[in-house]
Amino acid sequence: MPLKKIGVLTGGGDAPGLNAVIRAVVKAAFNSGVEVLGLEDSFDGLIYPEKSRVLTPRHVTGILRLGGTILGTVNRGNPFLEPIVTPEGTFDYSDRVIEMFEKNQLDALVCIGGDGTLAISYEFYKKGIPLVGVPKTIDNDIFGTTSCFGFDTAVSFATEAIDRLHTTAEAHRRIIVVEVMGRYAGWIALHAGVAGGADVILIPEIPYDLEKVAQCIRDRDALGARFSIVVVAEGAVPIGGSHSIVKAAHGGTAERLGGAGMYCAEELEKLAKKETRYVVLGHLQRGGAPTAFDRTLATRFGGKAVELLLKGMFGKMVANHPPDLVPIPLQDVVGKTKTVPFDNDLLTTARALGVCFGD
Ligand code: F6P
Repeated sequence: MPLKKIGVLTGGGDAPGLNAVIRAVVKAAFNSGVEVLGLEDSFDGLIYPEKSRVLTPRHVTGILRLGGTILGTVNRGNPFLEPIVTPEGTFDYSDRVIEMFEKNQLDALVCIGGDGTLAISYEFYKKGIPLVGVPKTIDNDIFGTTSCFGFDTAVSFATEAIDRLHTTAEAHRRIIVVEVMGRYAGWIALHAGVAGGADVILIPEIPYDLEKVAQCIRDRDALGARFSIVVVAEGAVPIGGSHSIVKAAHGGTAERLGGAGMYCAEELEKLAKKETRYVVLGHLQRGGAPTAFDRTLATRFGGKAVELLLKGMFGKMVANHPPDLVPIPLQDVVGKTKTVPFDNDLLTTARALGVCFGD
């Protein structure tokens, strides 16, 4: 049966390039005679009738270069755990989504999101909703795709921040610790750290010993360096220690990380006996306009998602396997995390150049 109407939604934390995907989905679908319903705030668009609207090319004009998402998003853990209360009554979450999918006369969905949203999407696919997933995260840790849009923008921003911190660190002969995002994978720290010429890079995959970091800094000072730049992923852990968290996990919602940069700065100041400051880049890495790379990747993802739906290839995630985009089963993606392997080329090169990883 040919597609007549599809829904598109964005879920999880935002990433620069979401709007570029939405635009590509809307334009590609429209040009194939398929109507698009924009679903607001992730799957809430299929819970509350007022949270959806038809999108035509006119509605997506000018959004290619905008960060955020015109559809809104939520980052709320596992929605299957709670019943849904609406003015029309209380519903089981998945029953309600399926009922509204049918009421809206949708034939399929494009679900743009990270590991959480893709896992929810896979559940709905198993319950009979035809859909395609588009991977999104600045952390670049989604399994099965070499890259996600948003990552390049985050790395570019973090690199510029490290560049700026170099001059002030050098002027004051200080250590400056820069905390970047990356809950369970150190891709942002590794790439921005190397691009920015950091002296130390601490990532979740390699538990660190701050005494070793302090020794690297002393060695640099002995060679005449006036400063050191330490890049720390928010999910980096000391050997034998645990994540720095500001809020524990609750009700299916993931723990909120924070404090890794402050911890490293306070300890290094004592160990290296050198004035130290820290900066947390936080959500600045997720905001703002996507880079050209992210715009094109996001546009390709959106176009490919519609192509797969038109071909009736459901239950897949669009994956970047350069130079191609390929469909891979959602089943192979959910529940996994793409971490930095120990033989990663950039990691190996950084070590060869003398970057300290604290191990
Ligand atoms: O997964 C992407 C990410 O930006 C992580 O790097 C970070 O820990 C998390 O989202 C923050 O989420 P929130 O915006 O919900 O606090």
